[in-house]
Amino acid sequence: MGIWVVGAIALQILGATALQLASLGSSFAAGPGLPEGGNYAHIFASRLAANLTDLSVSGSTLLNINSQIAGIPGDADLITVTSGGNDLGYVGGLTKDSDGGHAADPSISEQTLVNRFNSALTQIHTQAPSAKIYLVEYLTILGPDVTPLSKDVPFNAERVEHHRGVAATLQRATAQAAEGKAWVERIPVAQASQRNGVGSAIPWINGNPGSTTNGAAWHPTAAGMNAVANMLYEKARQRPE
Ligand SMILES: *[C@@H]1O[C@H](CO)[C@@H](O)[C@H](O)[C@H]1NC(C)=O
Repeated sequence: MGIWVVGAIALQILGATALQLASLGSSFAAGPGLPEGGNYAHIFASRLAANLTDLSVSGSTLLNINSQIAGIPGDADLITVTSGGNDLGYVGGLTKDSDGGHAADPSISEQTLVNRFNSALTQIHTQAPSAKIYLVEYLTILGPDVTPLSKDVPFNAERVEHHRGVAATLQRATAQAAEGKAWVERIPVAQASQRNGVGSAIPWINGNPGSTTNGAAWHPTAAGMNAVANMLYEKARQRPE
């Protein structure tokens, strides 16, 4: 599988080469509302002294991610991907309910989302055959610390359950897509961020506008991006199974 990350880190210490890292995905990768260089891929790349090609685009889906895939350097060693939320209308739905509307159910099934993941992952693998792909889950938004009908979460408990259901579909489809592909490693961010959702003591995510002062509404905070970068760094230090 080409240079593995641990080997690449060792080579960098010897000054031989730079690890080539590419980042793909939606706003949860891009980091809207955060300072330039504040998303997880930039933080991770800087800790690895890697050369980052950040191709992430806010609002992108697994259907239009092919324009990002086309930009992956052929010699990429490691590619991070966070996608699929917009295919389900996840953040769009949270925004709609926050604005007093009523978000529709996702327009595609879980199986269709899995198919889209499989297609995108295969394309990425074709574009950069020696690269390891880290499939990075979305941070949990509505964890156990949510208070419905509060400033941060201005909709009721039933709607909280609706959005949790969308998040669960997204997580299951992500996990299923990672299975059986030796070149894909899922980073279990959803589970690891349960106690850092909206309303928690240390939120890694914003709720409704104005709930924190960094990052966009319903998107990761600086602390959230740091946390994801830490998870990636810990994974990169491990030897592959
Ligand atoms: C960084 O990546 C870009 C895009 O692939 C490439 O043109 C450049 O040579 C790389 N730089 C280093 C130091 O590896």
